[in-house]
Amino acid sequence: MKKVLVTRKLLRSCEDKASKLFDANLNSNDELYSQNKLLKLSEGCDGILSSLTDKIDEETIKKLPDTIKIISNFAVGFGNIDVEAARKRNIAVTNTPDVLTDATAEIAMLLILGACRRANEGINWVKKENWKWSSDFLIGKQLTGSRLGILGMGRIGRAVAKLAKSFGMEIHYRNRSRLKPEIEEGAKFHESIKSLFSVSDVLSICCPATKETKDIINKDTLEYFPTGAIITNVARGDMIDDEAMVQALNSRKIYAIGLDVYKGEPRIHSEYLKQPTAFILPHLGSATKKTRTAMADLAIDNIDEYFSTGKCKNIIN
Ligand code: GLV
Repeated sequence: MKKVLVTRKLLRSCEDKASKLFDANLNSNDELYSQNKLLKLSEGCDGILSSLTDKIDEETIKKLPDTIKIISNFAVGFGNIDVEAARKRNIAVTNTPDVLTDATAEIAMLLILGACRRANEGINWVKKENWKWSSDFLIGKQLTGSRLGILGMGRIGRAVAKLAKSFGMEIHYRNRSRLKPEIEEGAKFHESIKSLFSVSDVLSICCPATKETKDIINKDTLEYFPTGAIITNVARGDMIDDEAMVQALNSRKIYAIGLDVYKGEPRIHSEYLKQPTAFILPHLGSATKKTRTAMADLAIDNIDEYFSTGKCKNIIN
């Protein structure tokens, strides 16, 4: 049996599955392992089932024991792993695409709705118990007829487009390449982020975190948006320069933000919490039982497939 280090606690049925297939070293206390502890626990293991909270950078990869042949990330995003460093050491890195698309798109819609319709302020008023209905109380922005810009039209971006269309939004997108018309389904492709942002009444960030997308929302690019735009992010915090965003919120250039992810999770830029319109969640994109089970099962299957066949369809390096 292959020995696999599972760095975070999984749902019970998934841990049972891992224990049937492998000699699994589980983390029953769900402790967040330091890089040193992860290295120590990897000794004698053949693979690692990691999560997005494990920072497996170049230095860590260089120090991994030679026995490690695969790092199976329990996430679709893999910005926490230096995949190039892993490739150099012949360590396969896999992720869990597809299975979390719908759950994440639902959270993307929640962010859009929450930010546009001032949900955070509404909830705070309810708690104070002294609000009064009036014709201009907490007037928000309506989705119907608004232009939604989607940055990154992969699986999640396309699922967001579909849901947003049913809310009556007009869909615009920017992607590395234009989609085929049958997949585009009427969404308008933009050749540049300037062109996309300038028509985005609402933006949904759905692209992967890469060197190219780091701080793609910054002081200069924020200028491209229509005044009063709403920016939401269901991908990774790396895409937003927080200082620039706070300034844009303070100057009312940007009306509201909706974030499920942010830099330095779980610690957030303190100024965001002072923004009454900010609608912020703690990285819940894939957090449903159905999806988390499917993700963990896939992360386990990726390891099993790799050790059984020497290949795996979800290898990313
Ligand atoms: C969640 O953020 C994921 O990348 O799976």
